[in-house]
Parts: sequence; structure tokens; C-alpha cells
Amino acid sequence: MKRKIGILTSGGDCPGLNAAIRGVAKASYELFDAEFIGIADGYRGLIEGDYRTMKRREFSGILTLGGTILGTSRRPYRNMRVIEDDNVDKVAAMKANYKKMGLDCLVTLGGNGTHKTANLLSEEGLNVIGLPKTIDNDIYGTDVTFGFHTAVDIATGVVDRIHTTANSHGRIMVIELMGNKAGWLTLYAGIAGGADIVLLPEIPYNMDSVIASIEHRIETGHGFTIIVVAEGAYDKALGSKRKERAAKLAENNFASGSHYLAHQIESITGLETRVVVPGHYQRGGSPSPYDRLLSTQFGSYAAHLIRDENYGQTVAMINGRVTSNPLKIAASQTKFVPIDHQMVQCGRDIGICFGE
Ligand code: F6P
Repeated sequence: MKRKIGILTSGGDCPGLNAAIRGVAKASYELFDAEFIGIADGYRGLIEGDYRTMKRREFSGILTLGGTILGTSRRPYRNMRVIEDDNVDKVAAMKANYKKMGLDCLVTLGGNGTHKTANLLSEEGLNVIGLPKTIDNDIYGTDVTFGFHTAVDIATGVVDRIHTTANSHGRIMVIELMGNKAGWLTLYAGIAGGADIVLLPEIPYNMDSVIASIEHRIETGHGFTIIVVAEGAYDKALGSKRKERAAKLAENNFASGSHYLAHQIESITGLETRVVVPGHYQRGGSPSPYDRLLSTQFGSYAAHLIRDENYGQTVAMINGRVTSNPLKIAASQTKFVPIDHQMVQCGRDIGICFGE
């Protein structure tokens, strides 16, 4: 049985993409007569017809490699359905290139945006299989995405190192972590790193509660405080509308919510406060062993879906078992941290302040 498979990586990169590509390819070569077409830079390559046939040996030696050998792009065209000034019908172009390549299926590795487009293409009649990647861990329908745990390891390493300098200087350290609108990375790295205050987008914080927690630490003999704040977290007082909050921060020349937070803390308490933003460092480099295993498992499961012609699915981990969900499930919503999640509850139990 012969299968011609197009493969692309789309959206922000993360550790484990190459391991997953390798997993799909190696398992496919074992399971059936596979041929791979590598599509460059995600949906850009599919729209513009930028692709090439890949050789089997290209999938070797990439297990530990960070980034993506296929290249990626984030929303190369803002809305796939809308025909903008460029006059290109993106969906028609993708369908035409799929046909031109003679594909039996398309494998897309990506996050929420990627899954929305994958689902759209599936609804348009293409055979599509998704794999959930993102350091944000915010894809609906899977307990975990690959890339997440490596980012937790990296971010935890940052929190660990910040502890020693915070302690030496007796400072308040505000560490801004990635995660887009979800707080998974901050929650996990915050607890793993022993942070004192953890601020998540899902729990808009109350400044009085943050200040009270810092003051309590001082009263109980702790000279420093570590705050991890998700990039999407916000002060309740700034309101729930994202755009309005961003405008207020920009008016006052705050580069981000963490700079605003540090400024408030310093002006209210008089305590020296610093901001640390590890940024894209959290997505760089080699995947952890956990993510190598997860990516390989997800990749090989995708090969089974291809063999069985079980298309329109995305690979998922549910209650510790690798399985799949219809693409439309993953595309339907974002997976946020439930405010009564066991890990949040565990944080509360050990005295972490969530700014509530
Ligand atoms: O989705 C992954 C992520 O790293 C988010 O955590 C972050 O908000 C965003 O991507 C950053 O995007 P970019 O890579 O476009 O700067």
C-alpha cells in the first residue's frame, strides 16, 4: 500500500517538532510504502506551492534537534477564508497544491491556529491529520501537548537561578513566562520552581492580595519574593478587555503586564523590584526526554491513523493513553487552566498566592 504524505509545521516552534516529524516518518516507513513531501514554512508553503520530496535519511539524526527542519510561519495570511487585497483564495490554493502534489494525506503539526486551518481543510474534503504541539499546552481535547514539558523544565531552571540572586539582594523578582492566554506554563514552572506568588490569566489578580502576600513574607522573615506571572495575566483593576488593558499599559510606557506589576509593587511597598523576561528562550533548544517520548509516540500514532485512513483526526493524550480526537474538537476552543484544577489547589494548599 502506497501513501504520499505532505507534512508541515505551523505556528510558533517548540522543542519536539523534529522528534514528532521523525516519529511520523519512521513509523510510516515501517508500516507501509510511504513517500514524504516536506512543505516549507507551514501553510505559507502549502498556499504558495513551496515543497519538496524528502529522502528517508533526512528523518534520521533529528530526534534531539530543536526548532523544525521544515520551517514554520505564524498566520502567513491573517484569515484563510478571506480573500484580501492580494486576491489569493488561500483555501483554493491549498486544495490545488494538495492535488498537484498528489497527496493521500496532509499531516499538520501545530497549535490552536494550525488546528483551525487543518479542520477547515478537512471540511473542504482533504485528508488531514493533526499533531498537537505548543509550549502553551492549551490545545483542547488532549491532556498534554509536546513542547510543554521542555518549556516547563527551562522556565523552572530560570526560577531556580533567580532564587539565588533574589535572596542575595533581598529583592522582589517578577518573572514573566510565556503561554499566550493560558497559564499552564506559569502554573507548572511556578510550583516546580517554588515561587511564592503565581499569577495566571485565568485568575485575574487583585493587587492588594499580591502586596499582602509580599508583606506577609517580610513579616515572617523572608527577605525576598519570587513572583511568576503569565504573559496573559492581568490586574483586575485594569478590566477584562485585552485591548483596553494593552492601551493603558502602552499609555504609561509599560512594555508588558509584568513591568506594570513590578512598578506597582515598588511604588506601594518601596521594595526593590526587578523584572525577568526569558521570552523565546523558553521554546529553544533540544526537547527533554519526556517530550522526545511524547513526540515519538504521537508521531507513530499518526502513522497508524494514516495506515488506517482514519483522517480528520488529531492525536491526543487522554488519561495517560495516546489516542485521537476529531479535528473539529481541537479546533473548537482553547484549553485554559480550570481555576479549581488540582495543581492550582495544590498551590493554594502550600500557601502560594494566586492574587485572589
Ligand atoms: O504559542 C507559543 C508562544 O510562545 C506563546 O507562548 C507566545 O505568546 C507566543 O508564542 C509568542 O509568539 P511569537 O513567536 O510570534 O513571538
